[in-house]
Amino acid sequence: MSLCQHADEQGKKVFWGLEGLYVNETEICYIDNDSGKIYYRGYDLEELVKYASFEEVAYLLLYGKLPNARELEEFSRQLRARRFIDSSVIDLLKMLPADAYPIDVLRLSIDYYCTRKKFINTGSLKDNYELAIDLISKLPVVLAYFYRISKGLDVVLPREEFDHPANFYYMMMGREPDPVEYEAVKTIFIIYADHSLANSTFTAITVASTLSDLGSAIIAALSSLKGPLHGGANREVVNMILEIGDEENVEKFVKEKIERKERIMGFGHRVYKSSSRGDPRVPILKEVARKLAEKKGGKYLKVFKIAERLENEVTSRLGSKGVRPNVDLYAGVLLYLLDIPPDYNPAIFAISRIVGWVAHVLEYWKHNRLIRPLERYVGPIGLKYVPLSERE
Ligand SMILES: CC(C)(COP(=O)(O)OP(=O)(O)OC[C@H]1O[C@@H](n2cnc3c(N)ncnc32)[C@H](O)[C@@H]1OP(=O)(O)O)[C@@H](O)C(=O)NCCC(=O)NCCS
Repeated sequence: MSLCQHADEQGKKVFWGLEGLYVNETEICYIDNDSGKIYYRGYDLEELVKYASFEEVAYLLLYGKLPNARELEEFSRQLRARRFIDSSVIDLLKMLPADAYPIDVLRLSIDYYCTRKKFINTGSLKDNYELAIDLISKLPVVLAYFYRISKGLDVVLPREEFDHPANFYYMMMGREPDPVEYEAVKTIFIIYADHSLANSTFTAITVASTLSDLGSAIIAALSSLKGPLHGGANREVVNMILEIGDEENVEKFVKEKIERKERIMGFGHRVYKSSSRGDPRVPILKEVARKLAEKKGGKYLKVFKIAERLENEVTSRLGSKGVRPNVDLYAGVLLYLLDIPPDYNPAIFAISRIVGWVAHVLEYWKHNRLIRPLERYVGPIGLKYVPLSERE
């Protein structure tokens, strides 16, 4: 027996986690660590959050330009018109355990939808946009329906006059969001809509690179997003803050986590760890969260303050090695302030990020190349086959 026989593999550098490697060119999202800014199609994310509707941002990401008034009206009309879901999907939701993970529910419903439609990749851009707009419109409805069904509440029908974020909140909570709540939902939707080649987006283009279909790419991306190192972190953040329970406990909590060499959720980021500016999405979300927490007071303000104390404590202890708050810290807090149960947080990330997944897959297909990296073999070769009866 010998190890690592292959001379051509010896000494080859392994890029664990593909860290620092460029695998693609894109015009969708640019993270500028020098200026601490994120750009969607060249537009400053901070400005988009301030001035644009979710529909404008989704159109921008999907079609590569800001819509004019007519295009926006037509896009918004399409999103509104597709909010109704088949009664068989509602039956499916009723069959699921009430405590099923909502992100799994989304994955199942897309699978069900695509299986029923026998969706395959025809290469038609029109078919793909059709599916994308259908899913972007329907996923929030599925989520809101599942929430209400699982709680034994009557489902709430969509309202024509509400835009995408307001309609989602309305269908889930059964009441219209007030202006601060609306700002919170819209901000989360816009901020989560894309973030360059996140793991789920890479997963989506990896699947798409086989010329599998858009639905399959989205299902795979959802599976990636669920993980706590990615989109599952916003759920863990809220559970962690509730477990900490009080601002006074933060210091001890952080110290013990560091001593045990455990990861603190909502902190650290592959893309920002070597940037002194940190994740540009954090201050945006934090200000909206502060506004909503101060308005609501009580347990909501308490959660915000624990998060703020965590931010200070972790940054002062681990900031020197690049561990600072990431998007999921205050997104998780904001979702708590909106009375969203933590299990729903990754699913809410998904109903927004689907826009980015679609944009990246469609862009990748313009110059498709099968994604197929290498792995360096370090195991034995030349082992002698031993019949089962002779094995120890
Ligand atoms: C997101 C994440 C996976 C990125 O990891 P990464 O780029 O591979 O970071 P590294 O593993 O290189 O970490 C660098 C150092 O920071 C530490 N670190 C990174 N994130 C940390 C965290 N959340 N808490 C504590 N320490 C952390 C690592 O332990 C490592 O320390 P060491 O050099 O002493 O070993 C990681 O930061 C993490 O697990 N964060 C928590 C989950 C989370 O919030 N995910 C959402 C991301 S938007």
